[in-house]
Amino acid sequence: MQATVRTVAFQGIDVLPVDVQVLVAPGTIAFAVVGLADKAVGESRERVRACFRALGLALPPQRITVNLSPADLAKEGSHYDLPIALGLLAALGVLPRESVEGFVVLGELALDGSLCRVPGVLPAAIAAQAAGRGVICPAVCGGEAAWGGFDSLADTDRPPIIAAPSLLALINHLRGQQTLPAPEALMADDRATYPDLSEIKGQESAKRVLEIAAAGGHNLLMIGPPGSGKSMLAARLPGLLPPLDAEEALEASMVRSLAGDLGEGRLSRRRTFRDPHHSATLQALIGGGARPKPGEVSLAHHGVLFLDELPEFNGIR
Ligand SMILES: Nc1ncnc2c1ncn2[C@@H]1O[C@H](COP(=O)(O)OP(=O)(O)OP(=O)(O)O)[C@@H](O)[C@H]1O
Ligand SMILES: [Mg+2]
Repeated sequence: MQATVRTVAFQGIDVLPVDVQVLVAPGTIAFAVVGLADKAVGESRERVRACFRALGLALPPQRITVNLSPADLAKEGSHYDLPIALGLLAALGVLPRESVEGFVVLGELALDGSLCRVPGVLPAAIAAQAAGRGVICPAVCGGEAAWGGFDSLADTDRPPIIAAPSLLALINHLRGQQTLPAPEALMADDRATYPDLSEIKGQESAKRVLEIAAAGGHNLLMIGPPGSGKSMLAARLPGLLPPLDAEEALEASMVRSLAGDLGEGRLSRRRTFRDPHHSATLQALIGGGARPKPGEVSLAHHGVLFLDELPEFNGIR
């Protein structure tokens, strides 16, 4: 009784394929997850167990081994819950094994069986659709996943995207007992206006420099006495830039998706304006940490990074 479900691991913005292999075999009763899993992945056992109980399913009194392959690649995050659960359901015969083939699966389980938002669905969906695979993800990430195959394929050729609100709804869909609606790729309604350059009195040369920097994509260093309007000018820079084109919007959204910052999964053509405080740590600025997340520099991709009070920043002093 073995089943394999495809999911992904993230390295920066790169998406690496990971196979979740589930084996249910006679032996000491146990539920083991192996394959360089971090604490969040190890804990997914408890979520899967609770979820099965909520669905009225009992784990068999057998030895369950979950292997995350390749075993030498570190696995982080909670998006392995759903592939582990589906692998187990397929290994137990609750789901036909072929129903989960050809999909990339990611999602976190709540104890009641509902599916929670996970970061990185957009880059995972782009990689999956490029490889001709469908995507199974939580309903809250459906909008993001729907952007995965955008532009690259005609509607009819696109592998399916299944965005389920709960594990039960997903099981019913995969068994053909219920049909989940296909998620829609939505744009954010971001016509909200930026502060306008017309609010600045005088400062003609500074305004002209701002326009030149916006047109040429140049860096700007502003030096001047306190209260002369430097911060005010900088905040008006994104309004001078054109809206993101489709490719730029997708790239910028991929970074935001990995940071778990994409809201409803709607893409936006708005240029970001990031102005971190000068007390921000180096990791917050350039990304990093034990579980690397994009920093302010990456989050400002295709937008404006404004380092107000530049000499006060840690590491610059
Ligand atoms: N040219 C201007 N037109 C209209 N308002 C201005 C202008 N210059 C300054 N102000 C007013 O002064 C306030 C302070 O400006 P701002 O904070 O941009 O200055 P700053 O150069 O960043 O100063 P600091 O060096 O202290 O950070 C603005 O919020 C605005 O109300
Ligand atoms: Mg200022």
